[in-house]
Amino acid sequence: MDYLEIEGGNTLKGDITISGAKNAALPIIAATLLSDKALTLDNLPNVVDIRTLLKLLSILGGEVTHHNTTAHINNHNITSTKALYEIVSQMRASILVLGPLLSRFGECEVSLPGGCAIGQRPIDLHLKALEAMGAKIEIKGGYVHAIAPNGLQGAKIIFDKITVGGTENIIMAAALAHGTTTIVNAAKEPEVVQLCEMIRDAGVKIEGIGTNELSIEGTGGKTLHFKPVKIIPDRIEAGTYLCAGAITYSTITLHKVNHTHIRATINKLESMGCSFDIKDESITIHPASLLKPVNLITLEYPGFPTDMQAQFMALAVMAKGESLIEERLFENRFMHVSELNRMGADIWLKGNVAAVKGVDVLYGAEVMATDLRASSALVLAALVAQGTTHVKRIYHLDRGYDNLEGKLSKLGAKITRKQEPWVERRKQQ
Ligand code: EPZ
Repeated sequence: MDYLEIEGGNTLKGDITISGAKNAALPIIAATLLSDKALTLDNLPNVVDIRTLLKLLSILGGEVTHHNTTAHINNHNITSTKALYEIVSQMRASILVLGPLLSRFGECEVSLPGGCAIGQRPIDLHLKALEAMGAKIEIKGGYVHAIAPNGLQGAKIIFDKITVGGTENIIMAAALAHGTTTIVNAAKEPEVVQLCEMIRDAGVKIEGIGTNELSIEGTGGKTLHFKPVKIIPDRIEAGTYLCAGAITYSTITLHKVNHTHIRATINKLESMGCSFDIKDESITIHPASLLKPVNLITLEYPGFPTDMQAQFMALAVMAKGESLIEERLFENRFMHVSELNRMGADIWLKGNVAAVKGVDVLYGAEVMATDLRASSALVLAALVAQGTTHVKRIYHLDRGYDNLEGKLSKLGAKITRKQEPWVERRKQQ
């Protein structure tokens, strides 16, 4: 297994380019199942999760050619509607094929995604909404068996809680349904907005895009013809690199950023003493003279994003004073705390609130990544720790960050990807 070796204590400088958003690309790739014509996706991030979902499309019979940041897809010859456990267990967002497969083919089997480090992450809201649209759903042998022999019917869906994946699955299901579907308490993340725009641009009438209430007039089973799609910039990747600038007291510039998608992150960094120059699609961070503590609560968009919580915890560890961080979306998204404490942080947990006492120094250590965003928090801490840090199990990182060590090295960080000695030895045998 690979790990990252990071020498702390270097300031960063220069500029990097932000990749396309993984969490926009995944539902968009799933949505291509709503079409039996060729289409092109551009600005895909080069990350494992994208390759995994494109592989699932191929297994279902889709024709996929994927080169760097571009994929040409044609799902005119889908031969299976069964998303196997082997794939879904690698990447829970595979559940996003449920809505489009059911809406287009009237039946499908999708493995339950199973648990995840950050929480139980059920899909009950997805399933309840599909049943409201006329689907018959049975859970058997770890799979969701769904049928809608006469196609899905438009319905009024009221989500008990805001769910990004649930909203996306129902948007895709509604696109080919008979009649109009209204979604109340819909998610309105930028990734949901781009999915709506892609489906609207294929001729489906959608009202309320970007709000918590969507109305979608289905085509009654007629497949869609999509225009080419360019994936929006990754707001979480951008936020992560801004935190890298803040924690190392460096001035760095990010290109190909949509700064309107990262207002909550910018606002919190400003409250910690950072300042920004924003010009078109570029943003430069100027570090604080001394990082101030921060209080934050994670909320659905446009509130402070849960996917930035771990990164801000690393920042708070180096602030002068005590910060409070409350995680409201997931029940177990503090796995990075114990690893940060092993580096010398002073973080106490009480339920879903973390009290972070700023410290003057962190020490390099062997630490273990537990989930995607926790991994990036450990990298941020390692950038300022005294000595060398090894961040292990970085397969978590590779799922959602495109060439993180390459981008940080370009900014002057001392970071290299290495292999566990036993892997090296086996290679030499
Ligand atoms: C998406 O996950 C993102 N993933 C997550 O990013 C992100 O953290 C999350 O939204 C919240 O913003 C992708 O877009 C691929 P939810 P999703 O359904 O859709 C509960 C990353 O790091 N819930 O909005 O799975 C759920 O347990 C990842 O890039 C139900 O109870 O999130 C959670 O507590 C991590 N029942 C809350 O809702 C359901 O049926 C929000 O989940 C569905 C969700």
